[in-house]
Amino acid sequence: MPPPILPPSQVFVLASYMRDLGVRVDQFPRPGETRVGGDFLESHGGKGSNQAIQAARCGARVAIVAALGQDAPGERACELWRAEGLDTLGVVVRAGQTTGTALILVDDRGENQIVIAPGANTTMSTADVDTAGAALDAARVVVCQLETPLACTQHAFGRARAAGATTVLNCAPAPSALPAALWALTDILIANEIEAAALSGCPPDTEPAQMAQVLLARVGRGVAITLGSQGALWCERGAAPLRQPAPGIDVVDTTGAGDAFVGAFAAAWARQADPGQALIQGVTAGSLACIRRGVVPALADAAAIARLQASAISRAAP
Ligand code: RIB
Repeated sequence: MPPPILPPSQVFVLASYMRDLGVRVDQFPRPGETRVGGDFLESHGGKGSNQAIQAARCGARVAIVAALGQDAPGERACELWRAEGLDTLGVVVRAGQTTGTALILVDDRGENQIVIAPGANTTMSTADVDTAGAALDAARVVVCQLETPLACTQHAFGRARAAGATTVLNCAPAPSALPAALWALTDILIANEIEAAALSGCPPDTEPAQMAQVLLARVGRGVAITLGSQGALWCERGAAPLRQPAPGIDVVDTTGAGDAFVGAFAAAWARQADPGQALIQGVTAGSLACIRRGVVPALADAAAIARLQASAISRAAP
């Protein structure tokens, strides 16, 4: 049967996928300590998959490339992506591999600690990226993180540049360095404060705007640093930094808040390439991702994002 004809994607994501296994704890265990936790939650995760779903819920047409194991979690991932309306022509299922898994602890303040066993994600190849090449070449924004092989990220960004798309790198999990060739292909870098410190070489307590300036020298367009409950910051050459505060919310679970920021930012950028708009969309989606437990159930749609923005504006009015 010929492949279905889909409308061109606006956002293309190199989508890591993890089966998230989460436990609530009153506080994180110290080395050697066993703690009794609360409820166990198994849910969908993986930074790339979370970002792709958030972009789709913001109204973007999203295509992905992903590598799954031939197992039940892999089948559930495919069902999820179809239900979210993603173009999954670039999804490969690897015999003999296990779908990626993440172990997640969430404490009483909603903060998290995560360890991933990437499994099949590490088998993604540049040939897999080329399988989804038509969708990649059509996209306005191409998003990568660091849970899939760097060679694939570089290859995808190379194709994206050749096709005139904006490349967005979310440098999570935090690396200590990136290859010069990847910096040269990155238009926009999105980092949290830990990742920005690791990549810039600045001490962790450095002002985020200062870390952004160091990182800005290495990318083509701009740097966004997420600041948790303080919102986010955007820096680009020749313009004053933009700061977007976060709306006040009751935090339940911060897991995936950064992914929500990236997905909403990418969807907004694909629409109008306006840093201020992309920043406000990212911060609002990131805040909404914290009000429910788990990641995918907490990713908001465009209407919920607009409602929170409207209520924040009316609260700020005299
Ligand atoms: O950013 C949150 C995600 O990081 C989780 O869903 C987990 O799977 C890890 O990839």
